[in-house]
Amino acid sequence: MHVTILGGGGFLGRKLAARLAAEGAIGGRALAGLTLFDLAEPPPLAAPFPVTRLAGDVADAAQLAQAIPAGTGVVFHLAAVVSAAAEADFDLGMRVNLQGTLAVIEACRALPTPPRLVFTSSVASFGGGQGAVLADDARQLPANSYGAQKAAAELILQDASRKGFLDAVSIRLPTVIVRPGRPNKAASSFVSAILREPLLGLDTPLPVEEGFAVWVCSPRRAVEWFLHAAAMDTAPLGLDRGINPPGLSVRVGEMLAALTPSERAHVKPAPDPAVQAIVGGWPAAFTAARARALGFSPQEGVAEILAAFREDDLAATRAERGL
Ligand SMILES: NC(=O)c1ccc[n+]([C@@H]2O[C@H](COP(=O)([O-])OP(=O)(O)OC[C@H]3O[C@@H](n4cnc5c(N)ncnc54)[C@H](O)[C@@H]3O)[C@@H](O)[C@H]2O)c1
Repeated sequence: MHVTILGGGGFLGRKLAARLAAEGAIGGRALAGLTLFDLAEPPPLAAPFPVTRLAGDVADAAQLAQAIPAGTGVVFHLAAVVSAAAEADFDLGMRVNLQGTLAVIEACRALPTPPRLVFTSSVASFGGGQGAVLADDARQLPANSYGAQKAAAELILQDASRKGFLDAVSIRLPTVIVRPGRPNKAASSFVSAILREPLLGLDTPLPVEEGFAVWVCSPRRAVEWFLHAAAMDTAPLGLDRGINPPGLSVRVGEMLAALTPSERAHVKPAPDPAVQAIVGGWPAAFTAARARALGFSPQEGVAEILAAFREDDLAATRAERGL
């Protein structure tokens, strides 16, 4: 089976690719090849199967056709313009997050056998805000363009699944922490920065109150969910292809409590109304009962998330930033 990761050079795409290289199979089906596709050519990956690295635009049909060849059994569609960037540039967000997904559907439709399509949607496709604990049938009412584009893409993927063009599972990811590297343009960038930057010995602003709650997961857990979504029996999903995975609802103060006092001193309160306006609209908790019943594993606590970051990414982040 061939596997393609769109957005394969990004944070989660690289983690997923590394995991596939280590395991060589998804749900017992061996990989015959892997294509990593991103705006810039993804970095080399040592794997027990051929790896093709392609630079291209997910909204370009001809480039996508190369990235999703006949024999593709699973497509992971992670390519996206993230939250604050999609809010700042409406046209770019529409082109990549919505039209890009439409192009992915067409590319899958052209294959002789409909592939499994794992799509990364987002908690940002919901409204509700801090007080909300969303049930599995909660309505998606996004309060930003990124969330609206993700919700719209989900709906079309659901119909494409019904039509038999592909077999979609859309995972509405929580905010993934701890993101390695540098702060990015996601409105939720601070959620990782308040743990990562202090471990690097760097100051970082805290744009929200310590009582602010967020729905999070670790990169390790996100990759587990992708693999489960790629291998699971989709018959029990019926028409509803959207999954609210079992993340962790945690307050900023609880996250800071996992740091030592000297690390914590690097986190400097700096209220930011623009960030608050975006992340304040996202729900801070989900019941996630359906995902649990479907076999999606629950997120462990902040201590484990921090330990995983130290183990997987701290040294590489230090090196990348010349620290
Ligand atoms: N990281 C999170 O906290 C989080 C939370 C919710 C949802 N998600 C979703 O998960 C997915 C992966 O997120 P990530 O954190 O790895 O983001 P990322 O920005 O690191 O990776 C996304 C990749 O998509 C690529 N991309 C952007 N435009 C493209 C285009 N036109 N053509 C091809 N590739 C393009 C980018 O270059 C990037 O490498 C995204 O779909 C994101 O919306 C992430």
